[in-house]
Amino acid sequence: MVLFSYPEYENIAQQLRTIGSVQVGRFNVGRYADQELHASIEASVSGEDCVIVGTIAPPDERLLSVLLLAETLKKEGADKITVVLPYLAYSRQDKHKPGESLGTAWVGSLLKSSGIDQVLTVDVHSERDKQLFPIPLISLSTESLFADVIQRHNLQDATIVAPDNGAIGRCEAVKRAARMPSGATPYFEKKRTDQGIIHRGPVGAVGPKVVIIDDMIDTGGTLVSACEKLRAAGAQEIYILVTHGLFTGTSWVHLWSLGVKRIFCTDTVPLPEGIKAGNILVVSIAPMIRKALNDYQRDLSMSAPKK
Ligand code: R5P
Repeated sequence: MVLFSYPEYENIAQQLRTIGSVQVGRFNVGRYADQELHASIEASVSGEDCVIVGTIAPPDERLLSVLLLAETLKKEGADKITVVLPYLAYSRQDKHKPGESLGTAWVGSLLKSSGIDQVLTVDVHSERDKQLFPIPLISLSTESLFADVIQRHNLQDATIVAPDNGAIGRCEAVKRAARMPSGATPYFEKKRTDQGIIHRGPVGAVGPKVVIIDDMIDTGGTLVSACEKLRAAGAQEIYILVTHGLFTGTSWVHLWSLGVKRIFCTDTVPLPEGIKAGNILVVSIAPMIRKALNDYQRDLSMSAPKK
């Protein structure tokens, strides 16, 4: 297996290099004087299984860079190409809305037409994303990782709350993994309007200590609105567990004044520059990715024809 990793994901690449027989693939994606992108590889990949670890999240050139690198590997005779995108950007564009783009299907087609055979990600936004993808989209779940956070930080006595309908399944999976009592998960009905988020709820009883679980924090609008309602419903101590910490803009900072004690997120997205970790605790998904690729490589070698 030849590994091509982008610098943002050095933490994951370090772990992947410890998988037996993984070779490091050196490459460069740069620009010509006229600003055209250009990729070059310094490894022979003919007949090899290749793995790219990177991101297609904005700035847009990152998407183009991954596509051009994959296309180059295919052109040079790579066998199977797996792309590890710990955070799958565009995955929230997963519903057919008249006159609007369906971003998930679009990036899926681009990845496929650039020679990519499969994508490995973490906590994909929805099951619809998998259906819209024209190639296998494998999503690893953080439920055990989050269950571990709940146990280590003594949060078993908290009420787990879903900030919208879409997060109920995630909350229940974490509750099962943390061996917390089952039972209906309090949630919010959420509607996005041009004026902002309209939240109704919480639907269900919440205690003074709450853990909100979601797939991502972007601007923080969803969580700020949920925390305001939770405060009004009597919550005093709030913890947030999200897989993808985008932390766009500054509105999310308001969470600290709403009773939020800690935000736990993973390293699927490197913390934006200028954000002080402080009460944001980052849990690494690198061991999980390593295990998935190690299992994949083992299966490949078992199915390889005997020489
Ligand atoms: C929505 O369906 C997602 O699960 C997140 O709740 C949402 O996208 C987070 O975005 P923001 O932080 O901007 O509200």
